[in-house]
Amino acid sequence: MPNIKSGHSPQRGFATRAIWAGQEACPATGATIMPVYQTATFTLPQIGVTRGFDYSRTSNPTRLAMERQLAALEGGRHACAFGSGMAAVAGAASVLSSGDHVVATRDIYGGTHRLFAHVLARYGITVTFVDTTDVQATWSAATRATRLLWLETPSNPTLRICDIAELVKHRRPGVLVAVDNTFASPFLQRPLALGADLVVHSTTKYIAGHSDVVGGVVITNDAELARQIAFHQNSVGAIPGPWDSYLTLRGAKTLALRMAAHSRNAQGIAEFLAQREDVAEVYYPGLSAHPAHQLAKRQMNGFGGIVSFRPKGGAGRAHAIAASTEIFSLAVSLGGVESLVCSPATMTHASLSAREREELGVTDDLLRLSVGIEDVEDLLADLRRALDADDWRGPTGAGEKKPARKKSAVWGALLRSS
Ligand SMILES: Cc1ncc(COP(=O)(O)O)c(C=O)c1O
Repeated sequence: MPNIKSGHSPQRGFATRAIWAGQEACPATGATIMPVYQTATFTLPQIGVTRGFDYSRTSNPTRLAMERQLAALEGGRHACAFGSGMAAVAGAASVLSSGDHVVATRDIYGGTHRLFAHVLARYGITVTFVDTTDVQATWSAATRATRLLWLETPSNPTLRICDIAELVKHRRPGVLVAVDNTFASPFLQRPLALGADLVVHSTTKYIAGHSDVVGGVVITNDAELARQIAFHQNSVGAIPGPWDSYLTLRGAKTLALRMAAHSRNAQGIAEFLAQREDVAEVYYPGLSAHPAHQLAKRQMNGFGGIVSFRPKGGAGRAHAIAASTEIFSLAVSLGGVESLVCSPATMTHASLSAREREELGVTDDLLRLSVGIEDVEDLLADLRRALDADDWRGPTGAGEKKPARKKSAVWGALLRSS
């Protein structure tokens, strides 16, 4: 049985907490690294007595170590892990009851939008989506029934930034503030320290960091909120297994190194795109031209790894670029060590109506990059080649292009030889 440290050691640095919080050599075997406790049940020493665990839906040592590690990284006292980011969003929303109202960031992750608008609505919970970069407009949308303000910053995919501390300062009494901190990760932004009550992550992204596990977590300093969310976690049972918990815990150990590299590479790519004549717009909070650059500088410890841009030449050219990069893989998701490119309108945000997408600026010509930690020179060369391959002033009009199929050297060779 591991002797799991509490992990709440805020005086230690971020990288130290990532590696040690919640983890200690196993007193029985000396195992330095938290083992994968691949067990559903635990043998009790006697009836009515446990060694801290009885059944892995309720708790599991590997999951607990990961929960304590992630709580320590967010500067929180309590964490509940879930089997996906969406299960974590639902876990945070479990503090709501029928009749409650939510005010939420308008350009929120599509899955959260779907849960709020189409699932919670069936349980009598209503939601108003607003531009949360406008503090006054945000709180004007609150009613007497409002119980939760749900924020996502930076937002997906247009990287808008809202002022967490300012929104918290003007909160209505009795309204909780939750922040989906997935895009920033706790390395770049810590909403609890800015006054938020709940922080949610899709740990699938930067926290686990290798695109090989799906998970989520809710973190809070409030013991009563933690109790309610843990009750939901155990009652609904949408928990991560021991192996997924282990992968997440292992990935999170290098979060500081990875986030610094993601931010560095993304800054280089955003600057490269911004100076190209054939790119109409670049969205990245690290650019001084970004409308909330100063706020991002204050609120975050870096600008993150997501860059969105609109190449000139319309959707046809955008799709041709996405299909022709060799390193940037055409895929949804983000936050892994590998670079990805996606077309939000047709991929991540396809569940929104065309009108909703238009309002959010998620048009067919927008591309989103999840910038990985490869050598930035290679990433720049890949993008340069893809952009140069396609003249946006071409005689036939780039919008008429048929999207090319992505080439794969490895799979191509394997399929040919089979
Ligand atoms: C900001 C944000 N929140 C939540 C989620 C949902 O996470 P998951 O896919 O792990 O369920 C995502 C997924 O892309 C996301 O980008």
